Amino acid sequence: MRKILAAGNWKMNNTPSQAAAMINELKEKTKGCKNDVLICPTFVCLPDAIKAAEGSNIKIGAQNMHFEDKGAFTGEVSAAMLKELGVEYVIIGHSERREYFAETDDTVNAKIIQALKYDLIPVVCCGESLKQREDGITFDFIRSQIKIAFRGISKEDAVKIVVAYEPIWAIGTGKVATTEQAQEVCAAIRACIGEIYDEATAAAIRIQYGGSVNAGNAAELFTQADIDGGLVGGASLKADFGKIVNYK
Ligand code: 13P
Repeated sequence: MRKILAAGNWKMNNTPSQAAAMINELKEKTKGCKNDVLICPTFVCLPDAIKAAEGSNIKIGAQNMHFEDKGAFTGEVSAAMLKELGVEYVIIGHSERREYFAETDDTVNAKIIQALKYDLIPVVCCGESLKQREDGITFDFIRSQIKIAFRGISKEDAVKIVVAYEPIWAIGTGKVATTEQAQEVCAAIRACIGEIYDEATAAAIRIQYGGSVNAGNAAELFTQADIDGGLVGGASLKADFGKIVNYK
């Protein structure tokens, strides 16, 4: 049985003290929560976030990392650094990183391999643009993203990966994908993983939906057959996130 993963991607929001305060508030709301809860603050907030989340069921993740062990990569953060802090998850290949920071399917693949080497759980983002959807190439595009993302990864490692389907046109726009659109792409991602590996691997991998998830639409999305929770941006910065995590 796959466990729902309700994750907040805070993007470039919150200072360390604000992060700690928000996690302390969320802690109360996640007591007894049946789902996995993940918060991904910025790098500088990670130590305070991890401290604040101690003794709760909130896991802490980073929003990015480099694929090399160490070296002359000014401004970058390595998997070993995250691991030593107590980080458990890392978002990889978010569309904002692909668009503004020149990440490619190949760097995404290198980062996933590196994260797994350090026992960090990658939350791997994929998703089409509005133009790609209108051109009718959504499925081909996402299949190609998935095939490159999982290149060279063993079946044993693949099952640890979380995939987040985030249509770019739904991110931060308030224009959530319909339940059918979200479900059919998540099902196609699962089928693609089945082709790469096998049925059991496909059935084990968690696939999230992301893009304008809020307290009003989370329950319907998260109860679809192939949707195992969400990667939430804007709404994870609000008190409402407690409702999303405990959706009914
Ligand atoms: P919003 O929930 O703000 O649309 O952002 C989604 C997202 O990009 C999460 O990674």
